Amino acid sequence: MAEVLLGVSGGIAAYKAIDVLRLLQKDGHRVRVVMTRSAQRFVGPATFAALSGRDVGLSLFGDETAPDYRHLEYAREAEVMLIAPATANTIARLAHGMGDDLLSSVALAYPGPVMVAPAMNTRMWEHPATRANLATLEARGATIVPPGHGVLADGDVGAGRLASPADIVAAVAAHRPGGDLFGRRVVITAGGTREPLDAVRYLGNRSSGRMGWALAHDARNRGATVTVLAANVDLPRDEGVTYHDAATAEELGRVARAAWNDADVMIMCAAVADYRPRAVADGKIDKSGAPELTIALERTEDILARLGELPRGGRVLVGFAAEAGEDGLRRARDKRLRKNADLIVHNDISRAGTGFGSEENAVTLISSRGETESGLRSKRECARLILDEVRGLLGETAAE
Ligand code: C5P
Repeated sequence: MAEVLLGVSGGIAAYKAIDVLRLLQKDGHRVRVVMTRSAQRFVGPATFAALSGRDVGLSLFGDETAPDYRHLEYAREAEVMLIAPATANTIARLAHGMGDDLLSSVALAYPGPVMVAPAMNTRMWEHPATRANLATLEARGATIVPPGHGVLADGDVGAGRLASPADIVAAVAAHRPGGDLFGRRVVITAGGTREPLDAVRYLGNRSSGRMGWALAHDARNRGATVTVLAANVDLPRDEGVTYHDAATAEELGRVARAAWNDADVMIMCAAVADYRPRAVADGKIDKSGAPELTIALERTEDILARLGELPRGGRVLVGFAAEAGEDGLRRARDKRLRKNADLIVHNDISRAGTGFGSEENAVTLISSRGETESGLRSKRECARLILDEVRGLLGETAAE
């Protein structure tokens, strides 16, 4: 979670900076807003002050009877400096190192590379001066979050529309070297497999994919390169995360094994069928025959156990244990040893309001480092705890 300085410059897209601010906060970042003079003509500073809960930087000069170094203070406190929207004028002033207002002065005093999300009319975007200024910023290490194509405020159609707030916030996560999983490749299975009985029916389970989605979101925000192997999940997908779909246990096993080589962390969050119909009927099974139907099932491969047998090579392997009742914790401890996982996340599915399909969970993390109970929390907070433990385990493997 970072301290983000959000610079807002004066284009009609300035109102979208409100969404950028909200999404940054949702990801746990603290945000300080600095506005240029013309931005203040589009959105009132009071909006940003109320939403950020902090003073909004408007001018280099405050009370002229006292010394004022706010541009230096803001630059010092910021871990990420993001300008969204960045107008052609603001980009030009940054490229030329000007310091004629608060935002440009903070940028001069800020030691790291800035992130810039441009928004302007297509002709301004394509102007050689803008191209050259952006090239200058990029050469200095700035990250440009490219604008999208579409209908612009003035009715023109073309490039120049501010990237979506979700894309901008994903770029902040991806380019933040301070994230504690930066450079780590994290693979997460999510959802629940479906094993076909015939052309229209399947054996499935109630897993929604929410826990896996929350893990992917948090891992991305901590700077990891995240791949999700999704088994039948119907949830909105995050920017900056790669998704592969795998419907059955067999398909999921195949993509998980393929992902192993390039992974630093494998989190097997999906609910995988233990049995599948031995034969898949052609068409639709007909009910006009006998009053009972018996379907022969065969075991599927235990993907987690299979990966647990491979040379570990510094990877961290995480499994889940959804267990009911008193003895569940003991079974989860056994599972960690039997499947040779580094961490098992136990959740008691007999407890109301947690686990499959719900927004909340209560987990116990069982690893070589000991056991931690989360208590009832949102899945997003559980994800954070799980990844804190993964981070600790990665530290141990690196130290070996
Ligand atoms: O033994 P159990 O099914 O309770 O183990 C759950 C853990 O094992 C989960 O991490 C799940 O993703 C994984 N699993 C698997 N392949 C299976 C069954 C479960 O990888 N066929």
